[in-house]
Amino acid sequence: MEKGKQLYEGKAKKVFETDDPSLLIVSYKDDATAFNGLKKGSIAGKGVINNQMSNYLMALIEKEGIPTHFVRELSDRDTLVRRVAIIPLEVIVRNIAAGSFAKNYGVSEGTVFDRPTVEFSYKNDALGDPLIAPSHILALHLVTEKELDTVSGYALRINEILRSFWSKRGITLVDFKIEFGKTPDGTVILADEISPDTCRLWDTATGTRLDKDRFRRDLGNVEEAYIEVMKRLKADQE
Ligand code: TMP
Ligand code: ASP
Repeated sequence: MEKGKQLYEGKAKKVFETDDPSLLIVSYKDDATAFNGLKKGSIAGKGVINNQMSNYLMALIEKEGIPTHFVRELSDRDTLVRRVAIIPLEVIVRNIAAGSFAKNYGVSEGTVFDRPTVEFSYKNDALGDPLIAPSHILALHLVTEKELDTVSGYALRINEILRSFWSKRGITLVDFKIEFGKTPDGTVILADEISPDTCRLWDTATGTRLDKDRFRRDLGNVEEAYIEVMKRLKADQE
């Protein structure tokens, strides 16, 4: 499958048309941004790791019965995916307080919740991706009530799948962000990516951050963290 016209360039990926109108190619870059693009940098080798990791995890999730956009890995950085209309919501699931949750509510990072939380941000760079209440999502007709239930249900099941996967590899899944899209027939499927850019992954034994927070917070050893997570993913323990 060949890359056609470039449709879009995002912060971490480019998207290309293919000769099949129902399929796109995503190409992962090493570019990294944080704080809505205010902080810019590059993480050497990140694109390759995020591509391979996201594909591995999407295949796992698909096997568990949740439809995803993943079709086939084409190369180190390129993947064939189903074309969808992205639902403009970032769906965030948290198991442990960190990041904006810890800041907004004045709780210590590391506080473990009794049960996972689900929240939504409105995907809109100009507005800074604000947190959005479910009733506001419906007021803005971003999705139907049924679609919102589907998205929330999928997000919690994906949390269970990923939590169990990473815990067998000595990694605690603190929180993550996912996005969904709609196929032309209206089916809601998992899209975008799942990687250390979009998850908080802490080494269970030491608490060491093995994700993009190393870049966001200038913690150093950024590349090493991505390599370590990929090494754990490949550890054949399942
Ligand atoms: P937060 O604590 O900063 O709200 O982040 C929650 C999770 O969402 C964390 O795993 C990082 C991820 N995330 C993204 O993938 N993209 C973003 O733009 C932001 C702000 C967070
Ligand atoms: N990718 C997001 C941005 O540039 C933020 C983040 O991941 O922290 O704004």
